[in-house]
Amino acid sequence: MKILILYYSHTGHTKNAADAVAAGIQEAGGAVTMVNTKDFDPAVIADYDGFVVGSPCWQKHFGDGPPQVDEPTLASIGKLADSSLAGKLVGGFVVTAETKGHRTLAAIEEAVVAKGGTKFKKGPIGKAGSPMSDWKGPNLMDEALKQYHDFGKSLVS
Ligand SMILES: Cc1cc2nc3c(=O)[nH]c(=O)nc-3n(C[C@H](O)[C@H](O)[C@H](O)COP(=O)(O)O)c2cc1C
Repeated sequence: MKILILYYSHTGHTKNAADAVAAGIQEAGGAVTMVNTKDFDPAVIADYDGFVVGSPCWQKHFGDGPPQVDEPTLASIGKLADSSLAGKLVGGFVVTAETKGHRTLAAIEEAVVAKGGTKFKKGPIGKAGSPMSDWKGPNLMDEALKQYHDFGKSLVS
């Protein structure tokens, strides 16, 4: 089982979560490659059995207005060829400062399904950082990191 983790991380929290997911995949006997959105070549997906996306929540934080979704991960998923995720293991995970992380995960699922993915595995939505801000803020707690790790394991075992 070869899994590609596509992630974006502005202040490092999603990278920490992705490292934990990757460690879980490896512990369960899978092989994993991590790629940052800026280095993503959509053609490489053909070499993988699984595609997992990790993203910070960049939704509108206040009120119930339309979500201002422009997560870099969504742009990268959009570069994949149609149906290129058909038959592959697909999933996602999110890091959010407070709320709306579920919207980011739903947006990732929708983008993955649009490229042929089915049976999307919903990963953790851990808390870190500060809302709508570049300030790094608090890190993911150990308990949250364990959830990302267990999610990685569950993808393979
Ligand atoms: C442009 C922007 C928008 C954000 N929007 C939200 C939001 O709507 N809700 C929220 O809880 N956190 C929001 N955040 C905070 C990030 O989700 C949080 O800091 C996360 O831990 C960052 O992950 P990273 O270190 O991997 O970049 C936003 C951060 C940025 C920079």
